[in-house]
Amino acid sequence: MIVLGIESSCDETAAAIVNDKREILGESLLSQEEHKTFGGVVPEIAARAHLEHIDEIIELCVKRAGIKLEDIDAIAASSGPGLIGGVVVGVMAGKALALALNKPFVAVNHLEGHALAARLTSDVKYPYLLLLVSGGHCQILVVKDVGEYERLGTTIDDAAGEAFDKVAKMLGLGYPGGPMIEKMAAVGNPDRFVLPRPLIGSGDCNLSFSGLKTAVRKIIESYSEDGNIEHAIMRKREAADICAAFQVAATDCLTRKLAKAITYFKQNYPEGKDLVVSGGVAANTFLRGKLKELADKNGLEFSAPPVRFCTDNGVMIAWAGLERFAKGYTNDLDFKPRPRWPLDSNAPKAAGAGGVKA
Ligand code: KG4
Ligand code: ZN
Repeated sequence: MIVLGIESSCDETAAAIVNDKREILGESLLSQEEHKTFGGVVPEIAARAHLEHIDEIIELCVKRAGIKLEDIDAIAASSGPGLIGGVVVGVMAGKALALALNKPFVAVNHLEGHALAARLTSDVKYPYLLLLVSGGHCQILVVKDVGEYERLGTTIDDAAGEAFDKVAKMLGLGYPGGPMIEKMAAVGNPDRFVLPRPLIGSGDCNLSFSGLKTAVRKIIESYSEDGNIEHAIMRKREAADICAAFQVAATDCLTRKLAKAITYFKQNYPEGKDLVVSGGVAANTFLRGKLKELADKNGLEFSAPPVRFCTDNGVMIAWAGLERFAKGYTNDLDFKPRPRWPLDSNAPKAAGAGGVKA
């Protein structure tokens, strides 16, 4: 079984071809550089760039796989949630290919791509506990099966990656902020500045990052004579110490809520053995280390996709598409891309929501 996957929901235009032996036959990816000067992704610029490059990215991927288009059994496209202009570009390309080749179309929830990526690269079995941390999402879920999720917690304000990006922007470190914060944090002192752990005593598995971001803003403001962070005068040393304190605080919030979730998971899914992290923030080595410690302490196996499959890519969409297709879940060509698409509404049989059982 061979599936082509297309990703275009944010600022990566990507395609990949995988098979059911968990082999990646070909892949191609273009990270849009156009957004760097804006400190964030500009939706219209992203949509235009996807439109310009999608055909060549798919062609390149097929060429690298060394197969004929006819050898592909199904076409999957990231069909939401995301920036709708880009999503529409990928979905239209996927549907056009499916129609021309007379192959099934599979609408993949972008978050399901992140959620299932670890199953391609590690021996992770259902059910497993998942921390999904990306630029737009921050959730703790039980992945029961393809399309079957129980959400245990979510952020009530910013996503984890969004918080990394905003802190980086305040420090003038550029976009995306996560990798820069991690680099600076590696040489910083995490104990110099004291940061809060918002919502930590709430008793549930929900998360909050906006208070953390505000606390960082206040520290930066204190280095400015007129209280304007743009006029703050900080040495690289202070900026690195803020990054280190922020990374520790954000990780602490995540691991403490995850510890609660593990208790629930072990009680309610005693057959579950794995703790998985995925999404762009899962590229963070410090976070991965702390999650591994937590998993070890609780007798769970820790898995994370390789870093290049944590941030947006075509491979995870192709793989999620393959898992859906293998179960017989395909979609009609009138499937409407969904700018909002909660993962726990992704049940395969929910007509009009995730798809229909073929
Ligand atoms: O999954 P992703 O590529 O796109 C979304 O679906 O949102 O995630 C991008 C997010 C950005 O917020 C970026 O700053 C963050 O992942 N990120 C990181 C790291 N690498 C990427 N955050 C922390 N540490 C990193 N090393
Ligand atoms: Zn993503």
